[in-house]
Amino acid sequence: MRALVVGSGGREHALAWAIARERGAVPFCAPGNPGAAEIATCVACSPMDLDALADCAERSRIDLTIVGPEAPLAAGLVDVFARRGLRALGPTRAAARLEASKVFMKHLCRRYGIPTAPFRVFDDPGQAIAYLRGAGRPLVVKADGLAAGKGVVVASTVEEGIAAVEAMMIERRFGDAGARVVIEEALEGEELSVFALCDGTSLVPLIPVQDHKRLRDGDRGPNTGGMGAHAPVPQAGPELLDRITDEVLEPVLWAMAQEGCPYRGVLFAGLMLTPEGPRVLEFNVRLGDPEAQVLVPLLAGSLLEAAEAVLAGRVDRWAPRWRPGAAVCVVLCADGYPGRPRTGAPIAGVRDAAALPGTVVFHAGTAIRDGRLVTAGGRVLNVVGMGATVAEARERAYRAAGMIEYEGKVYRHDIGARAQSVARATAEQRRA
Ligand code: AMP
Ligand code: GLY
Repeated sequence: MRALVVGSGGREHALAWAIARERGAVPFCAPGNPGAAEIATCVACSPMDLDALADCAERSRIDLTIVGPEAPLAAGLVDVFARRGLRALGPTRAAARLEASKVFMKHLCRRYGIPTAPFRVFDDPGQAIAYLRGAGRPLVVKADGLAAGKGVVVASTVEEGIAAVEAMMIERRFGDAGARVVIEEALEGEELSVFALCDGTSLVPLIPVQDHKRLRDGDRGPNTGGMGAHAPVPQAGPELLDRITDEVLEPVLWAMAQEGCPYRGVLFAGLMLTPEGPRVLEFNVRLGDPEAQVLVPLLAGSLLEAAEAVLAGRVDRWAPRWRPGAAVCVVLCADGYPGRPRTGAPIAGVRDAAALPGTVVFHAGTAIRDGRLVTAGGRVLNVVGMGATVAEARERAYRAAGMIEYEGKVYRHDIGARAQSVARATAEQRRA
């Protein structure tokens, strides 16, 4: 089977890596990155040039396309491919509104009783600012449309909230994506990423993953695209996953079908585990990055079989098989991320790090210049450690992370630390 992965980050390298390990599978990437190029055929094609992607899929006789990022899905990749008789895993443009419009998503939650933070929608900046002043407490301001993960401001003061409204609605920092905003209550708790494969009518949840959004250790500093992830999450056992399936995943699948846009593809619920129960922060229409980098190595079964089950409308016949143990992904960033990362620094040590046992290194923001591997983005490399326990997986990931060198290397040192202490406490309790 010839499979095309659309995208250029660590998530896409991980997907291509998994496909490359399947018997009889031939991976392609558009456009991929230097890491993906070692295991897949990379074609120079922008993920947003939908017709060129479809041309490429026809030319390369691709059987199945897996889309990494949300933007091509929101632009209608699956619709364009379907019109040309090409199979692509993901929601249609209409169903991708679940991620592409926060207003659509919040109204859907309200209409179908899916638990989420109370909110209001504004299309007038004056009214939004008056609401923030009147509320007198910190709230969360969200641009309606896609803003490359930068359209959410968790304001710790009223002034910060107002500044966010001005940047989004008046200065139009994210263009039309900020023409409308959602202002919602700030929730507190631990965050959890839950994924499900959906075929429009049925779904199968995957194991929950924990991302680490803030730049610095101890969940401090600005929000980022994700600084690291781990699975399993000992705080999220089978009972909690059942509850999330019943209260969030199944209702949204039902809701989307009722709205005339049945959901097919990977559904990603970003949740806050509040004392009142799980609340939806966001839905995404794809795998998470860096969540995929731990999910994919833990999946024991075939990724392509899973994709086939979704496309055939028979996801109910697919049961995921997971490797025992844990995976921890540490994201190595460039100085300046998430603002303006410094790029072009030569990178050393990747091969040695990847040769350690139970370790994989995925490329995210790298490039080859004059024959050398250099930094080329905010999130540069994703170092994944696997082990029998979270502790072992962490140790492996951090040993490998320490072996990779470039100027301005920034990363968190506490990815999976909480999971490790929860796991340890649970084990001690069991012994006592
Ligand atoms: P979103 O894209 O909506 O998931 O928001 C990005 C990040 O902002 C989330 O992963 C959370 O860390 C944070 N966030 C979003 N909404 C809220 C909320 N209502 N309360 C607290 N934090 C939030
Ligand atoms: N890691 C969060 C995301 O992919 O949106």
